[in-house]
Amino acid sequence: MKKPDYHILICNSYRVAGDAQGKCNKKGASDLLQYISDECSDRGLDVAVSTTACLNNCTKGPVLVIHPNNEWYGGFDSEEVIDEILDGLESGEACADYLISE
Ligand code: FES
Repeated sequence: MKKPDYHILICNSYRVAGDAQGKCNKKGASDLLQYISDECSDRGLDVAVSTTACLNNCTKGPVLVIHPNNEWYGGFDSEEVIDEILDGLESGEACADYLISE
């Protein structure tokens, strides 16, 4: 199996029962999932996109993590912010305005 270059994890606030109820989901994370996948594809980025349960940073949500870079982003609430984050991924320089990790 060929591994993707990057894995983007997007908190969608899943709970044990499977329902998405938490802050990231309520703040619109699920609305941007398709855009993130499409934009990665359009840019030719080799990325797997997955949704997750709570990533324990609810107040900074919606939360998105890019591996293997271990970059944690918060507050991605629009396509424009996603574009900035993906611009950073392409350039090799994290998008500092939305980083919630150091
Ligand atoms: S619900 Fe997304 S970090 Fe908690």
